[in-house]
Amino acid sequence: MSAAETWVAQRAREPDRSGRLVCALSGKGGVGKTNVVCNLAVAAARRGARVLLVDGDLGLANLDVLLGLAPERNVEDVLTGRCRLEDALCTGPAGIALLPAASGRGALASLQGPALDALIALLWDTRRVFDLVAIDAGAGVGSVAIELGASADPALLVTTGEPTALVDAYATLKVLWRRAPSLRVDLLVNAAASAAEARAVSAQLDRLSGRFLGKQARFAGWIPRDRRVRDAVLRQRALVELFPTAAVSHRFGALAQRYLAEDSGS
Ligand SMILES: Nc1ncnc2c1ncn2[C@@H]1O[C@H](COP(=O)(O)OP(=O)(O)OP(=O)(O)O)[C@@H](O)[C@H]1O
Ligand SMILES: [Mg+2]
Repeated sequence: MSAAETWVAQRAREPDRSGRLVCALSGKGGVGKTNVVCNLAVAAARRGARVLLVDGDLGLANLDVLLGLAPERNVEDVLTGRCRLEDALCTGPAGIALLPAASGRGALASLQGPALDALIALLWDTRRVFDLVAIDAGAGVGSVAIELGASADPALLVTTGEPTALVDAYATLKVLWRRAPSLRVDLLVNAAASAAEARAVSAQLDRLSGRFLGKQARFAGWIPRDRRVRDAVLRQRALVELFPTAAVSHRFGALAQRYLAEDSGS
């Protein structure tokens, strides 16, 4: 059965189902969004969930590279009507479906208006087929990242403890909540040395956002700094597959488990 046939069959079997749509964002680049979202997705699939991983870094795609895949089509083919979304998917580790983006496409990176709305509507619709839709938005507060983040439930704000990353995380939170005041935002502290460090980072952001925005993101957990993350990148494999018993992989597993256990539509 082709991917598209499977898709149609699943919809027919369970017309009312609706998975969770999580979108990773950050202000500053390089804080680990792509690795976080990739391992969250694969960890969820390893627990039996149907998972769609979406490269929302539309003009600077790299999830396919991270996973050692060579997709034939990508989101640009979908947006220009050359194929359906289900026909642009390729299969990754643990059976995840990946919607790849294009690389070096400035026009895609600055997508806005009806074209961006149409993409978001398509992604929203995939919740009827997948238990978890995990999107990697690019860095910064451009329209693509903010609109993808604002459409998610929750937006997953990724930061490290570096002051520059933290200040940019705050700025992203400000833009997100201006765009979508009731949006649920979870905070993930990446590359932390300890739980205490991660909590301190979260507390700093809470102080800023409590004082100036009147509310705070939810602390969703932390991922340790671990050289195996880089090893996995170099080997173009998902960390949670390559090192399934490592503590860092258990943390991705716990995060995935939490999202899968929550009722969607909250
Ligand atoms: N928990 C971690 N421990 C150690 N190294 C990490 C960790 N997370 C990320 N890294 C390193 O940081 C690099 C950047 O990570 P990644 O590409 O996921 O960031 P990003 O936020 O997606 O970047 P961009 O904003 O450019 O898209 C990775 O190649 C990896 O080597
Ligand atoms: Mg990235």
